[in-house]
Amino acid sequence: MDKFIIRGGNRLSGSVPISGAKNATLELMPAAILAPGVYNISNTPDIRDVWTMSRLIGSMGAYAELNNNCLHLNTSNITSLEAPYEYVKRMRASIHVLGPLLARYGYAKVSLPGGCAWGPRPVDFHLKGMERLGAEITLEGGYIIARADRLKGAAVSFDIASVGATFNVMSAATLARGRTVITNAATEPEVTAAGRFLQKMGAQIEGLGTSTITIDGVDDLKPVDEETIPDRIETGTLLAAIAISGGSATLTNANPYHLAVVLERLEEVGCEIDIRCDEISLKAPEHLNPVNVTTAVYPGFPTDMQAQWIALMSCATGASTVTDIIYKDRFTHVPELARLGCDIVVKDNSATIRGGRSLTGATVMSTDLRASVAMVLAGLVAEGETEVLRIYHLDRGYESLEKKLSALGADIRRVKTEEL
Ligand code: UD1
Repeated sequence: MDKFIIRGGNRLSGSVPISGAKNATLELMPAAILAPGVYNISNTPDIRDVWTMSRLIGSMGAYAELNNNCLHLNTSNITSLEAPYEYVKRMRASIHVLGPLLARYGYAKVSLPGGCAWGPRPVDFHLKGMERLGAEITLEGGYIIARADRLKGAAVSFDIASVGATFNVMSAATLARGRTVITNAATEPEVTAAGRFLQKMGAQIEGLGTSTITIDGVDDLKPVDEETIPDRIETGTLLAAIAISGGSATLTNANPYHLAVVLERLEEVGCEIDIRCDEISLKAPEHLNPVNVTTAVYPGFPTDMQAQWIALMSCATGASTVTDIIYKDRFTHVPELARLGCDIVVKDNSATIRGGRSLTGATVMSTDLRASVAMVLAGLVAEGETEVLRIYHLDRGYESLEKKLSALGADIRRVKTEEL
C-alpha cells in the first residue's frame, strides 16, 4: 500500500494539465459493449477505476489496453454477460454494464453493489428503469439478473436525477424498439459526453444536457473513436490546492464551463480567476473568505468537491457551512481533518467549519477517494509532515496527483508502506 508524505507550506505556482474525466470514461467503456468492434478513446485517465473497468469488461471477453492515455478497446468477443462481485465491490460504476449488456445481448447478471463507505447508495432507479423498458428483473444470491428479448421504448422518470441510472437507461434505450423519454434525467457533463459518444455510434438521442432526453431506438450501432472530456473534479481539486497554498498557477486542458459554480465560489473566497480557452489560472488572496456551499445536481456545487471545500474552508478567516444534500452521510473525512487541527462540527448533513486555526502535520487515513484528497489539501498547508495512508482510494480517480502537485512546487512524495 502506498502513502503520501507531504511537507506543508509551499505556495503552488506554474502550470499542469488536467486529465480526462474518470466518470465519463466509466460510461464510454461500457457503452462500447453496445456495438462489438474496435474503439480508440484518447485522453483516457490512467487511474485505478479505469483499470478496474478494463478488467471487468476483460473478464467478459473484451480487450482493453491503455497506452499513453489512449485506450484501445475491442468488444468483438464478449462471451460472459456477468459483472462479478469481485469488481463491483471495488467500483460501483461497474453497474454501468447493466444497460449495454441487456440491450445488446438480452441478459445481464450484475452483482448488487451494497453500501459504500459513506452510507447507503441504492440502485433502485437503475432497476426500475430497466423494468420500464420491458426487462424482467430478479435478485438472486446478491446478483441482479436482467432478461429481455428486445427492450421496448418507454417513459422513464427519476425521483432524483441520477447520473448512473440516466446512463443505464439512455444506453439501453439506444437499441430498444421505439421511443424512450427520460424525464428528470441527469445533466452532468459526463452523461452528456456518453450521449454524444452514443450519437457518434449512430444512436438517435435528443435533449442531452437537459432534464428530458429522448432516445429513438435503432437496430445497430457502430464502433467509433472518441476523446474524453477533461475531469472537472480534478480541475476543482487542483484549483482548491492552489488556493489553499496561497499560490498562483494555471491548469491547462480544462473545461472551465463544466465547473462554473466552483469558479464562482472560489471568486467569492477572494481568488482571482482568469480563463483563456481551455486554461484556468488562479491567484489566491492573502486571506481566504469563508463561503458556504450546498451540494446539488449539475450545474450546482458537486458533492464530489464537498470534502475539498471543507479542507479549503478550514483555512478561511471565519466560519462557514458545507451542506451535502446528495450524500447526506459523506463526512468520513471530518474526523481525519480534525487530526490535522481543523475545527469542524457535523450535524445531520451539514458541517460547520471554524477556519483560521493553524494546521499541523499528522498521520491520517481515508476510506474514500475525495476524502483522501481533502487530507492532501490540508497537508499542503499543515506545518511539518503529513502522512496520508491508503492512497489507493485516491489513485482510483486522480492520475499521478503527486507528480502534478510536485510540478506545481509542493513537497509531496509517494512511499510504499507495509501497513499492519
Ligand atoms: C455519480 C458519480 C459520483 C457522484 C454522483 C453524484 C460516477 C461513476 N459517479 O455516482 O462520483 O458523486 O454521481 O454526482 O459517475 N439514487 C437513488 N437510487 C438510485 C440511484 C441513485 O436513490 O438507484 C440517489 C443516490 O443515493 C444519490 C442521488 O440519487 O443521493 C444521485 O446519485 P447518482 O447520480 O446515481 O450517483 P452515481 O451515478 O452513483
